[in-house]
Amino acid sequence: MSIRGTFTLPGDKSLSHRALIFAAMSNGESQISNLSDGNDVVSTRDCLVHCGIKIFDDGQTTLIRGGSFTDPSTDLNCGNSGTTTRLLLGLLAGKGINARFIGDQSLSSRPMDRVLNPLAKMGLKLKSNDGRLPISIFKSDLKGIKHNSLIPSAQIKSAILLAGIEATGKTSTTESILSRNHTEIMLKKLGATISTNNLTNTISKSSLSSLINFKVPGDPSTSSFFATAAILLPNSSITIDNILLNPTRIGFYRIINKMGAKLDYLNEKFSFGEKLGSIKVVSSKLNNINISKNDIPGLIDELPLIALLATQATGVTEVRDASELRFKECDRIKAICKNLINMGANIKELDDGFIVKGPTRLKGAKIKTYDDHRIAMTFSIAGLISNQGIELDNPDCVAISFPNFFQLLERLKK
Ligand code: S3P
Repeated sequence: MSIRGTFTLPGDKSLSHRALIFAAMSNGESQISNLSDGNDVVSTRDCLVHCGIKIFDDGQTTLIRGGSFTDPSTDLNCGNSGTTTRLLLGLLAGKGINARFIGDQSLSSRPMDRVLNPLAKMGLKLKSNDGRLPISIFKSDLKGIKHNSLIPSAQIKSAILLAGIEATGKTSTTESILSRNHTEIMLKKLGATISTNNLTNTISKSSLSSLINFKVPGDPSTSSFFATAAILLPNSSITIDNILLNPTRIGFYRIINKMGAKLDYLNEKFSFGEKLGSIKVVSSKLNNINISKNDIPGLIDELPLIALLATQATGVTEVRDASELRFKECDRIKAICKNLINMGANIKELDDGFIVKGPTRLKGAKIKTYDDHRIAMTFSIAGLISNQGIELDNPDCVAISFPNFFQLLERLKK
């Protein structure tokens, strides 16, 4: 089997959340097309609607009338989405909204104190379940702070900046390694008073202009599943058009290129401050690699795929300094290692990563997804190179980021 074809993907998940949020914050009407159709982005949209923001679909375009936020009359259900929870905590804290946030079982077990602590320092009155959901926030006057984030995280950075845009004085946030920088790029484009100095962003009170005809570029994290299939299956060649190529998001492509993957970037251009273009990927032979601290933020969501690719690469691949993976939609270090061991891979679990010795022929297995979309998609690709194929315990969880994952994969198979 091979996979072949040229295709586009639904909009990037991180940019889709932010486009909806910034459109809601602006004082005019915004038009957004190619929004992610995953459940996570629907959670953000629904929460904004509960807070009084008017959102309509007009054919292919989503129209948002931003401006005035009101207290929601029901709990804000963030579903499975950490980005929805953390960004809206910052936004609604700044807007002086009284709200109660809830989520599914996975989200309710994830740490939220990383944003609650700085927001409380800004003056937010809140109640949480020991740093986790459910969380209630109460109308408060916020003041600017200087925050130093020990964890490089775009969600923490964004929550603080979104609160800081309504706070008195200046709010600055510093991270140790650059995490995805969509929030600061978009805030600048929309006229916010924000400056970036190395790893520090400083914001003060500003109003935002609306997003006029913003087309969200395709999701590079979603593209990585298809790129992995193309690399591992012989005689494969795919071209993915209109993909987001922001350097903070394509760490996966940088690393697999170093491992020997044959890639081409085509038609590169900038739109709304973000780089985009096409990526061509063909079947390739891979070597091992060592991945550590500085590489991690740029490929955090793609590490399950790196583990899979490492099982087919020659030599020993080590991934370290990735303990954040234990706090994603599931404990991804455990999910990767347990499932790959069941498929016959030579992988050792570490506290903060894993060591893989390749190449190994994978065998079929029953896969425990832990209801995590990226685990389900990674092991669907692993199944294609295994001798008996795999069975997922919950294939439907792919809808968190890409409901049409299986349909597209079928279409590309030759
Ligand atoms: C995201 C940031 C990352 C990433 C998540 C989306 C965002 O999380 O893993 O899928 O859109 O800001 P962290 O900020 O926790 O690293």
